[in-house]
Amino acid sequence: MQLRGRVLSVASECVPLIKTGGLADVVGALPAALAAVGWEMRVLMPAYRALRVRLAGMTEVWFEADLFGGEGRVFAGEVAGISVLLLDAPHLYDREGGPYSGPGGDWPDNARRFAALSWVGARMAREGFGGWKPDVLHAHDWQAGFAPAYLAFGGAAGVASVLTIHNIAFQGWAPASALMDLRLPFQQFHPDVLEYYGGLSSLKAGLVTADRITTVSPSYAAELMRPEFGMGLQGVIAARAGVVSGILNGVDTGVWSPEAEPVPYSVTAMKGKAANRAEICAEFGLDVPGPLAILVSRLTDQKGIDLLAGTIPDFIAGGGGLIVLGSGDPALEGAVLGLQARHGGRVAVRIGYDEALSHRLFAGGDAVLVPSRFEPCGLTQMYGLRYGTVPVVSAVGGLADTVIHASPAALAAKVATGIVFHPVDGVALGQALRGLLALYADRATWAQVQKNAMRQAVGWEASAAAYAALYEGIAR
Ligand code: ADP
Ligand code: GLC
Repeated sequence: MQLRGRVLSVASECVPLIKTGGLADVVGALPAALAAVGWEMRVLMPAYRALRVRLAGMTEVWFEADLFGGEGRVFAGEVAGISVLLLDAPHLYDREGGPYSGPGGDWPDNARRFAALSWVGARMAREGFGGWKPDVLHAHDWQAGFAPAYLAFGGAAGVASVLTIHNIAFQGWAPASALMDLRLPFQQFHPDVLEYYGGLSSLKAGLVTADRITTVSPSYAAELMRPEFGMGLQGVIAARAGVVSGILNGVDTGVWSPEAEPVPYSVTAMKGKAANRAEICAEFGLDVPGPLAILVSRLTDQKGIDLLAGTIPDFIAGGGGLIVLGSGDPALEGAVLGLQARHGGRVAVRIGYDEALSHRLFAGGDAVLVPSRFEPCGLTQMYGLRYGTVPVVSAVGGLADTVIHASPAALAAKVATGIVFHPVDGVALGQALRGLLALYADRATWAQVQKNAMRQAVGWEASAAAYAALYEGIAR
């Protein structure tokens, strides 16, 4: 494949190094997906404490004597086929805890920690390093939001920039008094550029300075311009509508493959799915005559978890069962644990993060629930499609873009892939779950929907081509 260009991706998470959500999956998948269409991508991210052991095998390619209060070094190496650049700045990243928070909650200097990442990203993009200079800087979410801004404020750099919004709920807010500390130009502190409700937002800074803005589904791109979804930034995004686009995420079809599960199966040989189902039912002590639904998610307000308490009892009464794997908000953990306590034998809950178990659940479940209030793209409904684990989703963002509702017309045309409900409330979810019970009871139709789902293309090919076209349009 002929090299069409180079991209420096700047992000706070990347599979397999560190992950708190789908952002990491996407950042980790893009390099291989883009290589297939001729774009070379390198990923710059912080060397958090757990990643520092890897530095020994890497090469130092960049040095900052004063990176926001200490030295910063960038080390280059390869991890799982990904060309990784780790920013080692112990005063910012060598800490006990997660990427954004420690035992006492969010790190108080998060604005500075990720401004530093963005600062280095912009500098490396502008100057190049070791004979490598990108054509495009691709920043992800608020953590990299200042990167396009530093690039723009520094004058012509010969590097174009893209900002991708994975989740607008996190905006990288900082007080106006942080302006100097974050090395931002005072003259840009006005509503058209840096000022955001009296303070600063790294996400807004990226939105107003990047050459292109993308988000992870076409529907979410449109939703973001409306107050219900824009979370304060709707005006900023609408003002730049001409450069905003939605490109769906893909999933790694090598990792997420029913043919690679404990009891393998495929669209033409579905028998193994029943065996996987029997295994997880035995593992969780469940006996479920109707559809076995699964839910694998962060347990947060975004994900609509609070809607389960009012709707699952009827679903259980109709013969259904549920396994929840997730962690997050203690109140929501309590709510799902309450369901388990009241419906033993039909509801099982595992609080925690467990990749291997999530695979077994997709292999063995009949349906996957994704009742999100908003969902930029969502990955689990796509795992569901791939595994014939019929998605039951709210009609928002990427969920609406990837699942075709089992309406009579869609069933007749053999294109239905799941159940889609709207609005996002208990009444509509309850109705969707009744629809699930009925669909499951009609065995021939159910098998057809599973087939339709499994035949959907959920890999990265189409999205990689869309990113390549986007880069090509702005590379200088
Ligand atoms: P978000 O990024 O908003 O959390 P996505 O659907 O894009 O939502 O991505 C979530 C990713 O995290 C998926 O790969 C999902 O399987 C995974 N995941 C979430 N919670 C868990 C868990 N408790 N155990 C295993 N995997 C999980
Ligand atoms: C965010 C969104 C999710 C999306 C993921 C990757 O975490 O909540 O919908 O799939 O980013 O883009």
